[in-house]
Amino acid sequence: MAVIRSVIRGVGAYLPKRILTNDDMAALVDTSDEWIRERTGIRERHIADHDELTSDLGIAAARQALVRAGIDPVDIDLVICATATPDRTFPATAVRIQAGLGVTKGAAFDMQAVCSGFIYALATADNFIKSAQSRRALVVGAETFSRILDWEDRGTCVLFGDGAGAVVLEAQTQVGGRDDRGILATRLRSDGRYEDLLYVDGGPGSTKTTGHLRMNGREVFRHAVQKISSVIEETLVASGYAPEEIDLYVPHQANKRILDGIAKKLGIPHQKVVMTLAKHGNTSAASVPLALNQAFEDRRLREGSMVLMEAMGGGFTWGAALARW
Ligand code: UT7
Repeated sequence: MAVIRSVIRGVGAYLPKRILTNDDMAALVDTSDEWIRERTGIRERHIADHDELTSDLGIAAARQALVRAGIDPVDIDLVICATATPDRTFPATAVRIQAGLGVTKGAAFDMQAVCSGFIYALATADNFIKSAQSRRALVVGAETFSRILDWEDRGTCVLFGDGAGAVVLEAQTQVGGRDDRGILATRLRSDGRYEDLLYVDGGPGSTKTTGHLRMNGREVFRHAVQKISSVIEETLVASGYAPEEIDLYVPHQANKRILDGIAKKLGIPHQKVVMTLAKHGNTSAASVPLALNQAFEDRRLREGSMVLMEAMGGGFTWGAALARW
């Protein structure tokens, strides 16, 4: 039976020019290149200029994705921006991205699921498309985490960076079989009991300040491999695919040891894992589309590739998506 699928037509990314290496970090806090590389896999991170906002990063990534998709901004009817670092408390950063691109149709809104934001936004856009409420959607993950870091806390400030990535989705009628292109399955999860393990200690409705990121890294790590592996397994079961049928595994880029652990648990070989965190650290909601973009530019991602994406973040929130490119 014919079905509407959300086909990924284009991907784009943007990283701010300024780079802080691990040695630069060692000049700020009591850390070392060796510790950061060995414990996380990160070598450097990009930091936005003071006048560069989350929406600016998102607009740059979206422009590239639209050009590659060959789609005019006026034909976009849905913009979702996954971010935990909006330009302002309101309006939504998605609305500013919409205006910056010249999109005037449909709706634009932000998705707040921290590091899982892109997977949440992708699943939401897919549901808008499948229910025929949208035909062409722009899904952006954009973050300026440098603004919510405590630059005196070595346990967190070395881990994160700024950046943005975007994809353009288009409704296409497919036969409804295993070989369909587009998003084939998504699964989202959250569990608010874990808030205290990863959160920002401020907000407009509580402290009237922005606050700083706080994390119990060891505990988050403990949950990550188990929770992500289990949501991936659910997504594969829902789509009828086996781990060995995955061409590319595009995970949230938080820690190399987490990525290696999940790949090992699922039996996904090293060469199928897209690993970009050495270059930009953990960019929260931007991390999966940044990795998709890298795989596309490296020609590892081609039409027909089976792509498995996943993320986990504050909340906890976590989720996975399976798509044929
Ligand atoms: O995207 C959202 C999801 N977030 C994540 O997935 C992050 C998950 N967690 C992690 O990636 C890891 O837990 C970290 C990289 C954050 C930390 O690695 P760890 O192996 O779990 O280290 P730890 O927190 O257990 O700390 C080990 C030691 C401690 O010293 P003592 O108490 O053993 O003397 C820390 O004080 O390492 C120390 N340490 C550092 N040393 C040098 C913590 N941060 C640093 C640092 N440089 N930057």
